[in-house]
Parts: sequence; structure tokens; C-alpha cells
Amino acid sequence: MKNKRTTLVHLIYFSRLNLAADAPTRARQLGEITRQAQKKNEFSVITSFLVVDQNFAAQIIEGERMSVNDTFGRISADSRHRDVQIVEWREIAKREFVNSFATAVRNTANEALFQKSNLLPMFQRGTPRAPAIHSLAVALQTESMSKQGIDHLFV
Ligand SMILES: Cc1cc2nc3c(=O)[nH]c(=O)nc-3n(C[C@H](O)[C@H](O)[C@H](O)COP(=O)(O)O)c2cc1C
Repeated sequence: MKNKRTTLVHLIYFSRLNLAADAPTRARQLGEITRQAQKKNEFSVITSFLVVDQNFAAQIIEGERMSVNDTFGRISADSRHRDVQIVEWREIAKREFVNSFATAVRNTANEALFQKSNLLPMFQRGTPRAPAIHSLAVALQTESMSKQGIDHLFV
């Protein structure tokens, strides 16, 4: 088989956030993470989606193997979260996320999707399944895109 020049992978991990309990400070802290991550991910051609439920975070990172390696190396050393655990790391045929860094925090508007995914009890047991994280992130992205009137791109 011919060697591919680049390999596209995705990495899914979950962690416990060390963020403030009060909503305004927490929003500011998440804003700061977003600013840093967006800039770096754009530069490294990484696309990603971060899901936040209470103090649990799960993120899918897509990109060229070495870029994903480097990015995850930085993320796992970040003291704003702890207990960072890889759930899945594999080759993928194509990207599924459109933004360099998008976040969805569980709230009343997206409650039904979070509920359906049943992720919270899996996080609490420490055994979230990759397909559960993946399909929740895809559903949240689809919902956010259709709110923006972009529902014809990913049928
Ligand atoms: C939950 C979480 C998700 C993050 N996601 C990313 C990301 O997708 N890409 C990234 O470059 N940094 C991400 N970061 C930030 C990195 O951990 C790090 O702070 C940033 O890349 C700057 O690294 P540096 O200070 O070593 O340059 C994330 C941090 C947290 C806490």
C-alpha cells in the first residue's frame, strides 16, 4: 500500500474541570480557554467540539496525527482540568466538525439532547463511551447550525 502523506485522526478524551462555581467567573474562564484554543487550532488546522456537563468536559479533536498529538499534549498538561483520560483515538476518513473550537455547555435549551445521550451517569462512573460523546457532539453541532440556518450542508 502506498504511504499516505498525512493521516487524519480524531481523539476523544474526558476530564474534570477545575473552574469556578459561580456562573460569571466560569463563563469568563471558558471564554479564555476558547480564545486560546481557537487561535492554536486554526493555526494547526484542528477542528474540535467541547461538551461541558456540570464539572465534566469531553472533547473531540480532529486533525493531522502530529497536530492532534501536539494539541493533546498541551491540553493534558493544563491545570484548568484534571483526570484527563483518553476515550478513543483512531484514524478517521473525514472530519465531522466545522469549527476550530466550538463549545456546548448543558443548559435548558439543549437539555433534551444531553438527557438522551445519558452521558452524565457514564461520566460519574468514569466510563463514558466514545459513541455517546461523539453522537452528542454531532447532534449539538447540527442543532447549532440549523439555528443559524445552515442545515443543508451536512445531510
Ligand atoms: C477543557 C480544555 C480544552 C482545551 N482545548 C484546547 C484545544 O482544542 N486546542 C488548544 O490548542 N488548546 C486547548 N486548551 C488550552 C491548552 O490547554 C493550552 O492552555 C493552550 O493550548 C496554550 O498552551 P501553551 O500555554 O502551552 O501555549 C484547552 C484547555 C482546556 C482546559
